[in-house]
Amino acid sequence: MNIDGADWLIRDYRPADEGAWLRCRVLGFLDTSYYDDVLVSKPRHAPGVGLVATAGDDIVGLCDASIDEASATIETIVVHPDFRRRGIAHALVQHTCERLQRAAATTVDAWTREDPGTLAWYQAEGFSAVFRYLHVYASTPQEMERATTPRPGLMPRNGHFHAWESEEAILRERFDRVYGCNRFMKAI
Ligand SMILES: CC(C)(COP(=O)(O)OP(=O)(O)OC[C@H]1O[C@@H](n2cnc3c(N)ncnc32)[C@H](O)[C@@H]1OP(=O)(O)O)[C@@H](O)C(=O)NCCC(=O)NCCS
Repeated sequence: MNIDGADWLIRDYRPADEGAWLRCRVLGFLDTSYYDDVLVSKPRHAPGVGLVATAGDDIVGLCDASIDEASATIETIVVHPDFRRRGIAHALVQHTCERLQRAAATTVDAWTREDPGTLAWYQAEGFSAVFRYLHVYASTPQEMERATTPRPGLMPRNGHFHAWESEEAILRERFDRVYGCNRFMKAI
């Protein structure tokens, strides 16, 4: 499938696109509340739909959707900041929805935070807000202390802790992501 814009083209995602796909996602999230949501490999959605917008050799937009019987979800839609307001996301979602319909999906949803441009875009595409919950980050030691003191209504999702090396063995048993943090020095 090729749908040309003035200086861009939409086509199916290919495995060789992965690096460019990840870079486009990072750059597209940089000015949003998802700025630190960085992936190092592309999630697979099967069954699903994966389209990209290209300009020359670069990926400048992407849309990934998953399908669960009649319900589909837009997992990611991102347009590179230098290519926005040219109808790329509109074309991506239109063609994604056509594919989803052909796969027998009857609804499509998406989850996003409160970035005004993104909300305006979803509304312009005819989506309606149906549910809202909160994402809460504990970003400082003080906030982390507040978060780890039992508090009704706060559902732990993730956190970032410091620990001493003496705890390493037990922490590696209990947590997937345990990194040594090394201080390097040299005499000059
Ligand atoms: C949201 C996003 C995908 C829109 O991409 P886009 O290609 O610029 O959108 P389009 O060109 O298809 O916009 C279509 C319409 O949506 C609305 N719209 C899009 N961006 C808007 C903005 N920043 N402010 C107000 N309205 C906006 C407008 O009505 C626009 O039509 P217009 O340009 O003729 O006024 C893009 O801004 C983006 O990548 N945002 C960051 C990533 C993100 O938050 N993704 C969603 C979470 S997964």
